[in-house]
Amino acid sequence: TDIDQFIAGLPKAELHLHIEGTLEPELMFALARRNDVTMPYGSIDEIRQAYDFGNLQDFLDIYYAGTNVLRTPQDFHDLAAAYFDRAAQDNIVHAEIMFDPQAHTSRGVPFAHVIEGLLSAMRDAEERHGITSDLILSFLRHLSEEEAFDTLRAATPWLPQIKAVGLDSSEVGHPPEKFARVFAAAAEAGLKLCAHAGEEGPPAYVWEALDLLKVDRIDHGNRALEEDALVERLVDEQMVLTVCPLSNLKLCVIDDIASHPLDRMLEMGLRATVNSDDPAYFGGYLNDNYRAVTAARSLSREQVALLARNSITGSFLPQQAKDAHL
Ligand code: ADE
Ligand code: ZN
Repeated sequence: TDIDQFIAGLPKAELHLHIEGTLEPELMFALARRNDVTMPYGSIDEIRQAYDFGNLQDFLDIYYAGTNVLRTPQDFHDLAAAYFDRAAQDNIVHAEIMFDPQAHTSRGVPFAHVIEGLLSAMRDAEERHGITSDLILSFLRHLSEEEAFDTLRAATPWLPQIKAVGLDSSEVGHPPEKFARVFAAAAEAGLKLCAHAGEEGPPAYVWEALDLLKVDRIDHGNRALEEDALVERLVDEQMVLTVCPLSNLKLCVIDDIASHPLDRMLEMGLRATVNSDDPAYFGGYLNDNYRAVTAARSLSREQVALLARNSITGSFLPQQAKDAHL
C-alpha cells in the first residue's frame, strides 16, 4: 500500500538489534553442519514451530541454545553479513548492534573471535551497502556484576571500536542497580550507556536505569507508561526509547498488536523509535515492525516520519552524520 511504500522509502536507523537474534534457522543449520554441532531440531520447520513464547525467559532459553552453532570469526562474520544484506533492503542507513559476549565466552569461544568477525562484516557493510554501524557490548543481567567487569576487561583492546554498553537478558529479579559500578566504569572509559528496562520489569527499574546507571537510552520502556511522573521525566529529558513492536507481541508484553502503545507514547511526547530486537525469532525485520504497528494503530505519515527521524537523532552518530541523513 501507499503507507508501506512510504515506510520503505524512509532512511532509518536501527538502534535495538541483538545480532544473535538475527540467526535465521537456515543459517543455524548451515553453521551446525560446518562446525559439526548436533542440533536439537530435526528440520527448519521444527525450529520455527519452537518459536512460540509465553514470556521473555521462554525466548531467552531458545535464543541462548541457538548461539551454540556460532564458533569461529567466520561464523560471526556470516551472521552479521546476513543481517546487513537484509537491512539494506529496508533502507537502514545506520545500525547500532548489540552483542552478548558472555553467551559465547561462557562456551569457550574467545572474545576476539566474536568481535573480529562482527567488525569485518561491519566494514564490508559500509563498502557494499553504505550502511554505517556501531557495536553495543551488552552485559547479561542474570550473571554477576563481577562477570560483567570481566567482560569489560576482555573488551579493553577493542574499546575504540565499541560505542556503548548495554544490559539485557532476564529482567525481573536483576535490577539495574546490580550493575551501577560497571556502568560507571564504562562511562569512565568513554562509552555510551543503554539498558533494557520496563520490558517485563517494573517502572522502578526504569527509574534506576536513569538515576543509577545514567543511561543515554532506554531499551523498550513499555512499563514506564504505568507512572505519570516517570513519563514526565522521560519527556522532559527527551530520553530515547527503543521500542520493538513485534518483539512485544511475541514475548506477550502486549496481548495484541492492536493494543500496542506506540502512538500513545508519541502523543505523550516520548521520543520513541521502532526496532526489530531479534528479528529471526519474532517474525519480522525493521520495515515489518513499522508496517505492523502502522496498520494496527493507524499511524499517520507524520507519525511514521517522526519515528524514522527519532531513529536518526536518537543514534550515537556524530551530529554531522545525523544531519546528512535528515
Ligand atoms: N536478549 C535478546 N533479546 C532480548 C530482549 N528483548 N530482552 C532482554 N534480553 C534480550
Ligand atoms: Zn532487546
